[in-house]
Formats: sequence, structure tokens, C-alpha cells
Amino acid sequence: MIKLTRTAGLRGTLTVPGDKSISHRAVMFGALAEGETRIRGFLKGADCLSTINCFRRMGIEIEELTGPDKEPVIIVHGKGLHGLKEPAVILDVGNSGTTTRLISGILAGQNFTSILSGDASLNSRPMKRIMTPLSLMGAEINSIKENGCAPLLIKGHPLKAIHYDSPVASAQVKSCILLAGLYADGQTSLTEPALSRDHTEKMLRSFGADVRSSGTTCTITPPDALKGQEINVPGDISSAAYFIVAGLITPNSEIEIKNVGINETRAGILKVCRAMGGDITYKNLREAGGEPVADLIIRSSFLKGTVIEGDIIPTLIDELPVIALMSCFAEGETVIKDAHELRVKESDRIEIVSRNLKAMGADVIPTEDGFIINSRQDPGYTPVLHGNRIDCAGDHRIAMTFAIAGVNADEETVITDSDCVEVSYPDFFRQLENLHIF
Ligand code: S3P
Repeated sequence: MIKLTRTAGLRGTLTVPGDKSISHRAVMFGALAEGETRIRGFLKGADCLSTINCFRRMGIEIEELTGPDKEPVIIVHGKGLHGLKEPAVILDVGNSGTTTRLISGILAGQNFTSILSGDASLNSRPMKRIMTPLSLMGAEINSIKENGCAPLLIKGHPLKAIHYDSPVASAQVKSCILLAGLYADGQTSLTEPALSRDHTEKMLRSFGADVRSSGTTCTITPPDALKGQEINVPGDISSAAYFIVAGLITPNSEIEIKNVGINETRAGILKVCRAMGGDITYKNLREAGGEPVADLIIRSSFLKGTVIEGDIIPTLIDELPVIALMSCFAEGETVIKDAHELRVKESDRIEIVSRNLKAMGADVIPTEDGFIINSRQDPGYTPVLHGNRIDCAGDHRIAMTFAIAGVNADEETVITDSDCVEVSYPDFFRQLENLHIF
């Protein structure tokens, strides 16, 4: 449990933890590569530790050392595409959808049987979206409870190459199929309705695979081998999002966020903030590990409502809870649509965000695929939210969103299950506290 009260302003510099999506992939591809993969900036959140544990259970040695710069380095001793061992136990994927869906693509092509299971939230998330295309590739993947969810029983087989038209813009589905494609008998391709994050394509290429992208279609040719790499994981823009919004909506604030990954397929939040009038400056634009990175300077801003819809949605999907909060501090109406996927994340984020924002006094209407939010805001920053008791349904992104709400509300906000931030941002509350002006 954590209690928050209104701050007089947020000021200072921080570095957000490593990108969750990139950290997962670095371990997975490292395990399938030949030789060592060294990962700097790895996110040691519960989700990525689930990925490490799953690969350890399949015989992959993964160590943590301290580099010459005193920073931790994760070393994955890859055993090649055919080097995984049958796990003796059920693979515990915890709360992690990325672990589950990506690893399923790998397991489908092995010569052994495995079972994946996670926590209650994970075991209620939809897995048919990967079961259907994997089955088309000839995989045997079954939901043990026959409800289309994990636990999943996967009997590995040699796989057939397919072209798949995915009904969802999901990087987890895309990555699952590309990883199964490593084990297919020819070129596997996938077209998605809008471009989702492209870390898998980029990183597989750096490991030596032939992955081509053209618009929203990507194609993989099964490689003979992947080669271990040095990976520098940039800061996670999805974690930076809480401080971006905090800096914009909190009066008297200026925050510098160092080393944020700003890959185009992830950076929708920056476009939206700027369109709403947010004062965001980029510094030191550079590249790290094949991904664009910058330091961001965020200053309190007078924001205006906007419409967020269509192809931008997959590029900010995880940021929508905190964007919904930001909209409560923007003059006029904000409409968020085409985001039905929010209903099948770690929680039903449309339902939980709306319920909690309303409990704090905001004018929010949940819709089937988003929100309609109205706010009256004057340049003098009249507070619009009132503290309340927030149940975040064990969802890390809800806990962090309402912590930012809490430091902008009159009266106290209590977040009951705040420990769930461990999933992606163990240091979140300490970093938030460090920025406070008392
Ligand atoms: C992720 C993809 C997204 C995102 C999740 C991480 C990934 O999920 O919400 O947090 O690393 O590929 P979907 O692919 O289901 O949209």
C-alpha cells in the first residue's frame, strides 16, 4: 500500500529502467543464438525475470556480472536454435504476456513437450490469437482448460511456413509467428492491420536472421544459426510515460528523463503530448543497440483535448491509462478510440481506469474501445481530481498512473496493491519521491 498527496512541483533528473520488450527479446534470442549474448541495461522487473527463469528451466545458463563501468551485465550462454532442453517442470510465466506469447512460438518448433502457466491475470488473457496461427503452421498447442487461455500444453513439431493475416496489431502475435518461423520449412510472413512495435524484427536482424519488412508485412527466412550479440537496452518509454505526463500536468515542474528509447513504433505518446500542447524537448539524439534514444526535458504545460485513434494506437497502447489521466488535465474533450485491446491487458484497463478516475471526480465515459474525457482547465491549474482509495487490480500500469494522479489531487490517495509495480518498474515510487518539491 502507498499513500500520496499533492506535490508543489516535480523537479530533477532521472533514468528510467531498461525497456521491457527489448529485455525479454534479448534473453530469448540470446538463448537461441550461438555463443554469448551480453545485455546491458536489462530490466530486472518481475516479467523479464520470468523469461530468464523459463530459459534456465530449459538448460540455458544465464549469469549476472558487474561490468567495468560497475553496471550489471546479463550474460546469456546461447545453445543454438536446437539447444533447448525439455523442461522438467511447468514453465512459470508469472504475469507476463510477452513471455507467454513469444516463448510459445519458440516452443512450438522444439522436439519436446512443455507447459506454460502464469498468475490468475495471465491465465485469463486470450491465447487463441497465437494458437490459431501456430496451429496453421502445424503446431500442437492446446489450452488445458479449453478456455482459450493458459495453461498451454505445447507439443513441439517441425513447422510449416505460412503467410498469416493477423486480425490484431499485436507485436506479441507478430513476434510469436516470426519466432516459430525460425523453425519453419520456408519463408513465413505476417501482415498486421497497423504497424506494432518492431523490436523483434530489428533485433533478429542484428542476430543475423533475414527478416524483411515492407509496410505492415514482415517476412522471415529460417536461418542456419543466430549469433550472440552485445545489446544495450535503452530506457523504457512506457516507464518514462508516467514522468512525461507527471511533468506536463504538475504545475511548477521540470523533469529530465535520460536515455529514453524513442523507436517510432513506440513513441506515439510523444506525438500526442505535443499535439495537446506539451512542452517536450529532445536532447542528445543518438542510437543505442540499433534503437533511437534521446534525453527528454518535460515542463509543465497548458494542455488541450485531442482525438487519439487509428494507426497511432499500437504505438502508445501501454501508455493509454496515463494518457487518459493526462486528458483529465486538458482543456476540453479528449476522445480515445480503436483501443479495444486495452480490455485484454493485465486488467481491463478501460474499466479500471474509468472507475478509478471517476472515483477521483473526473468526467470520464468508458466506451467499448476507449474513453471520452472532458475537463475544464484554466491556465492557473485548478485541481480537478480528489484523492481516493484506488484498487488497481494488480496491474502495474494502473498503479503508476494513479500515483501520478495522487500527486496532483487534493486530499490523500491510497493505492492498495502498489507492489505490482515490481512487474516493470521496481524503483518507481522511490524515483517519484525524489522529484518532489516539498
Ligand atoms: C509487447 C507488446 C504489446 C504490449 C506489451 C509488450 C511486446 O502487447 O502491450 O506490454 O513486448 O511485444 P500486444 O502485442 O498484445 O499489443
